[in-house]
Amino acid sequence: MADEPLVLGIETSCDETGVGIVRGHTLLADALASSVDQHARFGGVVPEVASRAHLEALVPTMQRALAEAKVTLADVDAIAVTSGPGLAGALLVGVAAAKGYALAAEKPIYGVNHLAAHVAVDTLEHGPLPEPAIAMLVSGGHSSLLLVDDLTSGVTPLGATIDDAAGEAFDKVARLLGLGFPGGPIIDRMAEEGDRRSIVFPRGLTAPKDLAAHRFDFSFSGLKTAVARWVEARERAGEPVPVADVSASFQEAVCDVLTAKAIDACRANGIRTLLIGGGVAANSRLRVLAGERAAEHGIEVRVPRPSLCTDNGAMVAALGSRLVAAGVAPSRLDLPADSSMPLTAVSVAG
Ligand code: KG4
Ligand code: ZN
Repeated sequence: MADEPLVLGIETSCDETGVGIVRGHTLLADALASSVDQHARFGGVVPEVASRAHLEALVPTMQRALAEAKVTLADVDAIAVTSGPGLAGALLVGVAAAKGYALAAEKPIYGVNHLAAHVAVDTLEHGPLPEPAIAMLVSGGHSSLLLVDDLTSGVTPLGATIDDAAGEAFDKVARLLGLGFPGGPIIDRMAEEGDRRSIVFPRGLTAPKDLAAHRFDFSFSGLKTAVARWVEARERAGEPVPVADVSASFQEAVCDVLTAKAIDACRANGIRTLLIGGGVAANSRLRVLAGERAAEHGIEVRVPRPSLCTDNGAMVAALGSRLVAAGVAPSRLDLPADSSMPLTAVSVAG
């Protein structure tokens, strides 16, 4: 509907330069430029390389998004930008650009939380989110369980990883198996050929003694070490490493823990909607297992399509649109790039 807010969103927190445009809950454009290939040989995102790539990609990505949506900057009601959390230098490029555009076009600006934006993006595909909901965000930089009472005013963190993020574990295990970067999609593909029951890898923070203090927290670094030890033992014995079986068994350990804790969080809070977002939400086994386990407890699972799960500008625009619709005050023009922005802040207060 034409009277719904037209919001442009800019995302530069990691290695994707994204500019998205939405009207209300409708996605009009989602332009993306990725520097992922430039990081591949390092086996992980190099912050300086990411910042420079954002700088080069931002203006062309902006122009593509406006052309795709068939609007001009003058038509836009507000500009939203990821203020944090993320890589400081990378965030700074997006925030500085958003300020420039907001100032030049005299538009209100909203500095938004990247994690809340991962939750908001689902509305573009599945409509308004039934609240309260539980959101599980799993990506290369974060793994969190959140209680979403009202996305525009605040989100309650229930738990998070105490060491590696889920996507980071996929990337590190892929690296030790010599599979390339980013590891998640490759392991996902390799796992299709393997037997997920062939090797039983540890499930972090699921023992009764751990659950007392870390019921909704995750740990993946012990799993990564266990995979490394297992592979080393094979190599020492001069035996071939069954890469597909290791991939499938590792993936099963991650997905088992993620889905068990997410369902537990829903049940503990009497909630019937589980939303999964972040790059790892693209994992095929995670989607199947979450669906099966949720169905057993009458819980609905919402997962955006893979291109909306990974970082993009549409998610930032989607959250901006929610904030405008809810009448939340815009941020000030001196809003910061905050690499450790807390989840309790959905947007930077005006
Ligand atoms: O959300 P995202 O694009 O960026 C961050 O904020 O980190 O997530 C990227 C992460 C990477 O670690 C990548 O390996 C992982 O998501 N990933 C996957 C899959 N696709 C991407 N992990 C498991 N299975 C996948 N299919
Ligand atoms: Zn992300």
